[in-house]
Order: sequence, then structure tokens, then C-alpha cells
Amino acid sequence: MKLTTLAFLGAVATSTAQVVIVPTGPVRGPNTLVFKEIGGVPNNECLTFTNNGNIVNAACAWANADRQVTPGKILGTDVLLVQRSWLAPFRPDLVGKQACIAFNETSFRAEDCDRRDLLFARFDVGNGRIVANGHTACLSGHDSIAQVTTDVIGRKCAQFTITAVTPTKP
Ligand SMILES: *[C@@H]1O[C@H](CO)[C@@H](O)[C@H](O)[C@H]1NC(C)=O
Repeated sequence: MKLTTLAFLGAVATSTAQVVIVPTGPVRGPNTLVFKEIGGVPNNECLTFTNNGNIVNAACAWANADRQVTPGKILGTDVLLVQRSWLAPFRPDLVGKQACIAFNETSFRAEDCDRRDLLFARFDVGNGRIVANGHTACLSGHDSIAQVTTDVIGRKCAQFTITAVTPTKP
């Protein structure tokens, strides 16, 4: 009798202990993409990430990890996961970390996906824009030295076409 009671209590404890695991880190979507700016710098229309994490226009080298971005989610919010990795002399904060495109109130650049003090960017498939979640800011094109520009109020957003690629090891 005693054993039966214990077994019953054990079964209850097991079932109430079940929790739904919600991943807090990024969940990668199925497609890795290269973004090409419509009306970008001729022969340098694709987005890439510099050693310091800024985003610039460069040649469309589809197989380069620094051109590749994977749409995904963090706690249900759309994010853009950057494929390349970083070295300590340039971005010590990103060494061994997954980077996401983030908006820091003025610019978009690569930041640690674990940060919660920034707005992450997402790709709006419907209109080809890269925008900040919950904000008007968008990537608006490039300047004379092919650095990407930001329109904080989203009046003039650039449009991008996407090409699915095989992810390259960072
Ligand atoms: C935002 O990012 C830009 C581009 O890298 C940088 O120049 C600026 O200092 C950053 N602003 C803040 C508040 O971190």
C-alpha cells in the first residue's frame, strides 16, 4: 500500500514538473540569404559586415560568410542572424557570440543577439525592406563610400532582393 502511494505521488510529481521549454537564444530559420540593394553601388550591391561590425555595400560574393544572414526568431521576435564571426582586436564583445543586425537609435550594425537594450532588425519580405522591430527606422541605401545609411523615420527605405545560399562556416 505504501509503495503504491509513493508510486502515485511520484507520477504526479513527474507530470506537474513538466515545463514548456521556450528557447531564449535565437532560433534559426530555414534560409540563409544574401541581400542585394536595388540601385546599390554598381557591382557592389550586396550587404557585408566589416571587421568592426558596420554594414557596407560590397561585391555579391555569395559564398562568403560575411555576406550571409539567416532570418530567425528570439522569443518570437523576428531577427537577422549574421553568419560571420569576429576577432578580439575589432569586436571583443562578439568573439564566440551569435551576432544579429541591431538598431542602436542611429545606425544598424552587428551586435550580440543576447543584448536586450537594442532593437533587432528584421527583413520585411513584402516590401524588401530591412527595418527595426517596433520602430520606423530602416536601411535607406548607401553613402559615397558605400557605407549603408539609416532613415530613422522610415521615409526613404532601400529595397533589397534576396538570394538563398548555402551557409558558409563562419
Ligand atoms: C551606433 O552605431 C554607430 C555605427 O557603428 C556608432 O557610430 C554609434 O556610436 C552607435 N551609437 C550608440 C549609441 O551606440
